[in-house]
Amino acid sequence: MSDAAAARRDPGFCRFHTEHTIVVDWSAEAGWSDWSVEPYGSIVLDPAAMVLHYGQSVFEGLKAFRQPDGSAALFRPADHARRLGRSASRLAMPEMPVDLFLEACAELVALDDDWIPDEPGQALYLRPLMIATEAQVGLRDSRRYRCVFLAYPVDPCFGRDFAPISVETSGESVRAVRGGMGEAKCSGNYAASLMVRREALARGFNEVLWLDGLERRWVEELSGMNVFFVWRDGDGPDGVRLTTPPCQGTIVRGITRDCVLTLARDLGIRVAEEPTTIDGVMAGARSGRLVEMFACGTAAVVVPVGRVADAGASAVFGDGREGPVTARLRNAFIEIQHGIRPDTHGWLRTV
Ligand code: COI
Repeated sequence: MSDAAAARRDPGFCRFHTEHTIVVDWSAEAGWSDWSVEPYGSIVLDPAAMVLHYGQSVFEGLKAFRQPDGSAALFRPADHARRLGRSASRLAMPEMPVDLFLEACAELVALDDDWIPDEPGQALYLRPLMIATEAQVGLRDSRRYRCVFLAYPVDPCFGRDFAPISVETSGESVRAVRGGMGEAKCSGNYAASLMVRREALARGFNEVLWLDGLERRWVEELSGMNVFFVWRDGDGPDGVRLTTPPCQGTIVRGITRDCVLTLARDLGIRVAEEPTTIDGVMAGARSGRLVEMFACGTAAVVVPVGRVADAGASAVFGDGREGPVTARLRNAFIEIQHGIRPDTHGWLRTV
């Protein structure tokens, strides 16, 4: 069996990389280079490369899906390109033109088509990474950057069974503050989460639920996913209301988050981008008014949260199993990605 076939059968999450990468460089003198194909391999960096000292590093995560006619389609690639541009700009890095990003992604998917897994929920995950490469010790923004596009066959990062995860609030630690870099998909934001995440994992939780940096009271997001709440709320279809924390500069503007908001409206579910306190979440789960919580992101897709812990107390949503609203939204989302349900919002871009 070829490497690609073995990896397709049981890919896990980013356990196997494909054979190719796409490389694009930028310099202050020449701007963006054309993209070039290179075999997967190490990058040689000067130890003074500015990314290593001042942390100019941003990335994206997007997926390509096998379609019923055998073709492959990228999911919302232009939105990922624009988000990479916004992240880069926040870190004083140049914005890659959307068309260049789209060409690089399409080329990589075409080259590594053989690695795209077929099952619902599986995908080829693309990881465009952009780093500052100029050798310079002394604080200023770099005059050279490299963008490398990597590809991996993947299952959803918490597995294909979408078993409920458990989360613990971030205690005294803070991931982002208003006016900071929280909205940028930059490496430093993930580094900020790692110590707290490691401690939460050691206590048996799957993720950290980050609270705001000022009052440590408002729910923000998980370390790499946005969060949603399903409230039992009197009238309306199904008698439920879906809420998610608003984007106020401290959370990543998830593209899956945007899809969930759109799909919920399509399905006639009332939705609101609404600030939510952790006390409200704990009280809602206990009283039964908050019936479901879920997390979403490109890597995770839509995964139920069964239990939340805060300040030594713990609460379970419903019976701790996946609720019907979470399942309905995820199924609709996956069916669109795999071309099973009509793509009425034009999210797929055939390669
Ligand atoms: C993604 O969902 O694509 C991300 O970048 C999150 C990361 C923690 C895997």
